[in-house]
Amino acid sequence: MSEDGTVEVRLGDDPPLRVARGRRVFGVVIEAGRPIGRACRGAGVCLACGVWVTGPMSPIGEDEAALIARRAGPTARGAARWRIACLARIAGDVRVDTDYW
Ligand code: FES
Repeated sequence: MSEDGTVEVRLGDDPPLRVARGRRVFGVVIEAGRPIGRACRGAGVCLACGVWVTGPMSPIGEDEAALIARRAGPTARGAARWRIACLARIAGDVRVDTDYW
């Protein structure tokens, strides 16, 4: 994280973006023009926006934990953790991946 409160976010193999610390992954991905599942349009109820995140993120809150518990597949892949993009906030330099990009 830099002194101006921004962090570096890599979406897949794209060049890094600088965004404000504390932003939700969901908005960063949409603004970057990358596709992301969003059946509930960011309301935090559908699971569709699940992404793999490597790096410091907000603690998993009760709502996000309930969604993650509904996932049929794994929630960890190496250092990456499966997070709900419309609920999880970026806390430091991170890399974000999905199973479809
Ligand atoms: S868009 Fe539905 S849970 Fe995030």
